[in-house]
Parts: sequence; structure tokens; C-alpha cells
Amino acid sequence: MALPNTQHTGILISFEGSEGSGKTTQITRLGGRLAKGGYEIVTTREPGGTKIGEQVREILLHNSGGDGMFAETELLLFAAARAQIVRETIAPALLRGAVVLSDRYLDSSTVYQGIARNLGKGPVNEINRFAVGAVMPDVTVVIDVPTKVSIERISKRKGARPDRMERENIGFYEKVRDGYLVLAKGLPERFVVVDGTQSEDAIEAEIWSALQARLFNGEQAGRQSGQGGAAE
Ligand SMILES: Nc1ncnc2c1ncn2[C@@H]1O[C@H](COP(=O)(O)OP(=O)(O)OP(=O)(O)O)[C@@H](O)[C@H]1O
Ligand SMILES: [Mg+2]
Repeated sequence: MALPNTQHTGILISFEGSEGSGKTTQITRLGGRLAKGGYEIVTTREPGGTKIGEQVREILLHNSGGDGMFAETELLLFAAARAQIVRETIAPALLRGAVVLSDRYLDSSTVYQGIARNLGKGPVNEINRFAVGAVMPDVTVVIDVPTKVSIERISKRKGARPDRMERENIGFYEKVRDGYLVLAKGLPERFVVVDGTQSEDAIEAEIWSALQARLFNGEQAGRQSGQGGAAE
């Protein structure tokens, strides 16, 4: 399916960071704020977010045979779920003019499979591009927490057994954290890095202030008529 070019009127904001860094918490807060301002908000999660993607998520994170999964297989499965959600949900929402808040997107593959699993930039970038075409985030928010905090927060999570990625070792988490910081440093026009050890309120305020400056032109949270606000 053909994907839209960058001329759509919607805005795509992706959230990245280690497990437990606070992505879902902040997406809920930002989504609430923007919805009050009259924006149509679409939130998506990766892997998953579509019927097909949720089945892929099961294989990736919860399937009992998953421990034998090769890094290459993992990369392609994440990309498969992403190819589906971008066509089924994200692109149509952007064409309608919605604000899409994506809980992880292509940078997760760059960092988890490219850096932490060592598959390298080249193949991961190529596969990412094949999956998403030109549907790139206008802004990517990285919530940065030290590995120790990430692990503490995951272990506090009630009831749920850690998934396959969460069972990885400390060295893996360190590579993920550093990977995001290096990526963000190299692309400052797209990335915003926030310190995830602050209070939820302080993080929300910092994210909002960065987004206002980059996308929403100083407005409180209301949509200005005839103004898509996308950075590109
Ligand atoms: N700023 C914060 N300070 C302390 N605890 C927080 C903060 N933000 C979120 N939390 C708590 O940390 C846990 C993880 O938060 P959240 O689920 O939002 O992270 P996540 O990045 O979406 O995690 P995952 O990658 O596993 O989906 C939750 O229990 C949440 O209440
Ligand atoms: Mg989450």
C-alpha cells in the first residue's frame, strides 16, 4: 500500500526509552491535554496496536518458544508489526489531521536490534525504511532513566511476568540507554531527551514546553485553524 508523503496535516510524535521509563504514563498525560485542546488523538503501541500486530507481539514477547529467537527474526517481526500499524492506523490518522502518539516506533529497532543486539545500522535502517516509508515522526521524545531505575520499576510491576525483552541482562539495558542518547545527539532536530527520574508532573511540563516550541507554536493546547503544525 502506498504511504503518504510528508504533506499530510497530522502530527506524529513517538515516545522512546527503556522499559519502565514512563512512556505510557506521559502519552496518557499529553493525549489528555491535547484532546482537551480539540485535537483528535490516536495512540498506538508497538509491537502490536492492530489485530495482526498483537499476534506478532505475542510471538515476540510472550511465546514460550521465543527464547530461541534469532536477532534477525526479531528485527523482521518488529518491522512486520510496524508495517501493519503504519498502514492500518498511523497513515490514515495523519491524513485526517490527527495527532498520533506512538508508544515506541522505528527508533526502538535502531536501538534494540541495531545496537543492543548488534545487527548494525545498515540493515536496520533499510528495513525500517521499507516498513514505514516516509512516515517519520515529527518529534521523538526519549525518556531517559538510569538502568537501575528501569529495572526497579519493572520489578515493581504488579502481577505481570516479565516479557522476553524485560528478562534481558543489565548490559543489554545499558546498551539500549546509551543507544538512545547517541541517536538523539545525532538528530537534535527530531529528538527531545527528558530526564525520566523527575516527577511525572515535571516531565509532563518539560515535554509540553518542548512540543509547544517545536510543533504547537506557543498555543496553550488548542488547534489553530488552517495550521497543521508539522515540523516538516
Ligand atoms: N516520573 C516517574 N517517577 C516515578 N515513577 C514513575 C514515573 N513515571 C512513571 N512511573 C511509574 O513507573 C512505572 C512504569 O511507567 P510506564 O508504564 O509509564 O513506563 P513505560 O515506559 O511505558 O514502560 P514499558 O516500556 O514497560 O511499557 C509505572 O509503575 C509508573 O507508575
Ligand atoms: Mg508502556
